[in-house]
Amino acid sequence: MPRETFYITTPIYYVNDKPHIGHAYTSIAADVIARFKHLDNFDVFFLTGTDEHGQKVAQSAAKHGKEPKEFVDSLVEHFKDLGRKMNLSNDCFIRTTEERHLQTVQKVWLELEKRQEIYKSSYFGWYSVRDEAFYSESELINGKAPTGAEVEWLEEESYFFKLSKWQDKLLDFYHKNPDFVGPKERYNEVISFVKSGLEDLSVSRIKFTWGVKVPSDSVHTIYVWLDALFNYITAVEDKRYWPCDLHLVGKDIVRFHAVYWPAFLMALDYPLPKRIFAHGWWLNEGEKISKSLGNVIDPIALAEKVGLDNLRFYMIREVPFGQDGNYSQASFNARINAELANNIGNLTQRVVAFAVKNCGSVVPTPSKFLDVDNELLEEAYSAVEKMRALINKQALHLAVGEVVSLATLGNVFIDHQTPWRYAKTDIERMNTIIYVLLELIKVIAILLLPFIPESAQKMLDIFEIEKADFASIETRLKPGTSLKQSEIIFPKII
Ligand code: MSP
Repeated sequence: MPRETFYITTPIYYVNDKPHIGHAYTSIAADVIARFKHLDNFDVFFLTGTDEHGQKVAQSAAKHGKEPKEFVDSLVEHFKDLGRKMNLSNDCFIRTTEERHLQTVQKVWLELEKRQEIYKSSYFGWYSVRDEAFYSESELINGKAPTGAEVEWLEEESYFFKLSKWQDKLLDFYHKNPDFVGPKERYNEVISFVKSGLEDLSVSRIKFTWGVKVPSDSVHTIYVWLDALFNYITAVEDKRYWPCDLHLVGKDIVRFHAVYWPAFLMALDYPLPKRIFAHGWWLNEGEKISKSLGNVIDPIALAEKVGLDNLRFYMIREVPFGQDGNYSQASFNARINAELANNIGNLTQRVVAFAVKNCGSVVPTPSKFLDVDNELLEEAYSAVEKMRALINKQALHLAVGEVVSLATLGNVFIDHQTPWRYAKTDIERMNTIIYVLLELIKVIAILLLPFIPESAQKMLDIFEIEKADFASIETRLKPGTSLKQSEIIFPKII
């Protein structure tokens, strides 16, 4: 039987500057889900990449005195490097300047024209280059975009996509698919935005040229969001993975993904993606992150400083996925010390060191399991099922929390069962307790693989398990397996 497919995407990032922590965040979250599904036997396609056209990128290139193509070619390397440094398992890295993507966009344009979904007129209105978005007069706040970005007045000939025509169909679709957008507050926002009335969308410009040309009218350049969104289709030409299972996005770009994107697809008669989930924004020590404040966080430098798996763990565990978060050194240290060092790390160290000393450095042979032993193992084996449900709701912080809880149970178990008391009196009981604990540690390691892949593998190395997946969770450790006492995997931050 062919495996079930799972297609997940990150937004494609503007290459107007080096990557920042926001880019790392979406990518790490997507990687966690992709790895989880992979371990759960799905045929995964995980896509990320770069959004290279548009005015924002062109202006940045000009500021650096470079041609746009030369500029994006140099910057894209930083984004690819980010992927390697964050240990992303993406299957493809797409660039919107690739030939295959230009072809998709032009093909789509011609099809929309053929279907009379596009017409020529003139645009009079506001545009924000920073957001690459059009805003109506009523949306402006003190002369600025609701995002705080500067806007400029545009008057030019433009092609329009008949967005207004899809208003009722979109509303109907949202009602029938209440899980299309998450979290719930974003879903409600989308509905109220569409209910407030959709205007046709300007989808071409003549005053700038860095983008895909309108195939039938080359003085026009296609609107960067129409171009960008179709990257999700370009990357899966063979269609096996479409419709996409999950588009992960930041909360600032929900409108494009939950309104424009399904409208474009409906107009083309394409199946719609199954879910769009929006995460929140990170602050830095309580302050909004911005270049002008000079508090931009470079994720590569940060990972080098604090350790990649610590960073991955912190970002996923600290903030309920979907809500805003605040990066602070104090909360970072507290989280890592409490959960990785003192809980998971401590359990592993204690048990393995004990087995090395008292069980001849091997997995001991268990005797009869008591109820408490079976209960603990049952908790361990059933965690994956709970995590599946949480991952499918993108409750990533709770999913990893399940693993933390297992370690807590393990530490309580060892304190109650006191294996050291049996070292001289009841070797069989001592061996059974240690066996159960080693088995628990193995399960914890497998469940941590999506979140902190390198450290989790180091835990598995203790048992010389080279490759594990969720199907192998209940494959018990073989008594007699030698234990490789490792370095401290989760050092405490002092
Ligand atoms: N190019 C568009 C996406 C096109 S998808 C077809 C874009 N690019 S972006 O580089 O500006 O932003 C990419 C992502 O980074 C967005 O999802 C955005 O929410 C996220 N973040 C930017 N700053 C952020 C924080 N401070 N915190 C968390 N994520 C934030 O938009």
